[in-house]
Amino acid sequence: MKILVTGGAGYIGSHTTILLIEAGYEVVIFDNFSNASKESIRRVEAIVGKEIAVIEGDIRSREDLRKVFMAHKIDAVIHFAGLKAVGESVEQPLRYYDNNVNGSAVLCEVMSEYNCKSIIFSSSATVYGDPHTTPILENFPLSATNPYGRSKLMVEEILRDVYVSDSEWKIVLLRYFNPVGAHASGTIGEDPNGLPNNLMPFISQTAVGKREYLSVFGNDYDTVDGTGVRDYIHVVDLAQGHVNALDRIKNFKEPMTINLGTGNGYSVLEMVEAFERASEKKVSYKIAERRAGDIATCFADPSYAKEVLDWEAKRGIDEMCEDVWRWQSQNPSGYIS
Ligand code: NAD
Ligand code: UD1
Repeated sequence: MKILVTGGAGYIGSHTTILLIEAGYEVVIFDNFSNASKESIRRVEAIVGKEIAVIEGDIRSREDLRKVFMAHKIDAVIHFAGLKAVGESVEQPLRYYDNNVNGSAVLCEVMSEYNCKSIIFSSSATVYGDPHTTPILENFPLSATNPYGRSKLMVEEILRDVYVSDSEWKIVLLRYFNPVGAHASGTIGEDPNGLPNNLMPFISQTAVGKREYLSVFGNDYDTVDGTGVRDYIHVVDLAQGHVNALDRIKNFKEPMTINLGTGNGYSVLEMVEAFERASEKKVSYKIAERRAGDIATCFADPSYAKEVLDWEAKRGIDEMCEDVWRWQSQNPSGYIS
């Protein structure tokens, strides 16, 4: 089976490409490289030991997408391409809606033209807003507090509408919790542009000496130590969730919405300690103000993924931190080095 991986040069897409190829799928990567480098693909090729078909293009361009479908008989799409910085989405909402929402709609339109009607979409736990309890189940109320989150909710709804209009579509909406970690080789990993927004790259850049200290956003939440609690999931476990979804997609009778998380929550300070253990480096931090829009606690109930995908996360926070450290210490400047 040939799979189109949009955003396949990015963080989660590159890890998923490896597992897809290892599972026997053929992969075509489609990316505009707005937030990725070609070096990541070169390194993925080195890991899998073969060349990967890559088409540079934008999901908002029908012409770019048609080139893919004319050149390849695509059986299913894993749709990672999108912009993902929450703060930036508040400053540039139209860019986010155009890229994430319009881009996804154009993708579905062109898929339909070529009678390719299976798609796995990267959604996010951000669609649960501030949940009233944890662990979070898939049927919890949905809300968004920023354009990024709203773009994910909108695409989920667009895909459900697409199914209502044509029940031949096979749709899986995967809601990721907090992806961290890196491939065990240490050659690919998360390579954020500029100042990282997310905790893990900030911790690792502090440990490697690129940042002076981590600002811990609030220590007065109602949590184990007052700092925010999240469900960190190893990116390779997350990637495996996509392979399991793809293996089963033809059997799904209707759109599936599935949490991909571990079911365990860890605080910011617990993650700092785990990283210090893994790296044997000190991670300096200072307590700072709460970050606007943050919630106290967020972790998944992953039992539905176990039931319908026969999938569960295997890697714990020590392995996540060890793998991030291997990637960060071997590539202190990311793919540029
Ligand atoms: P990433 O930025 O590393 O990867 C996204 C890729 O999409 C990049 O390679 C980028 O160049 C490409 N891209 C962006 N816009 C494009 C366009 N218009 N046309 C073609 N390519 C385009 O991000 P990631 O962390 O790998 O995330 C992948 C997906 O998962 C995104 O949709 C993101 O919103 C979602 N997600 C990520 C997280 C996370 O914390 N990383 C959490 C939940 C959901
Ligand atoms: C953030 C996004 C969310 C997105 C998710 C993707 C916001 C408000 N939310 O979620 O929409 O889906 O990333 O992974 O941006 N922290 C610090 N110092 C830092 C960075 C983070 O203390 O420098 C804390 C945060 O307050 C939080 C935890 O670390 O408690 C995790 O933060 P982060 O990695 O940004 O993820 P989320 O807040 O869960």
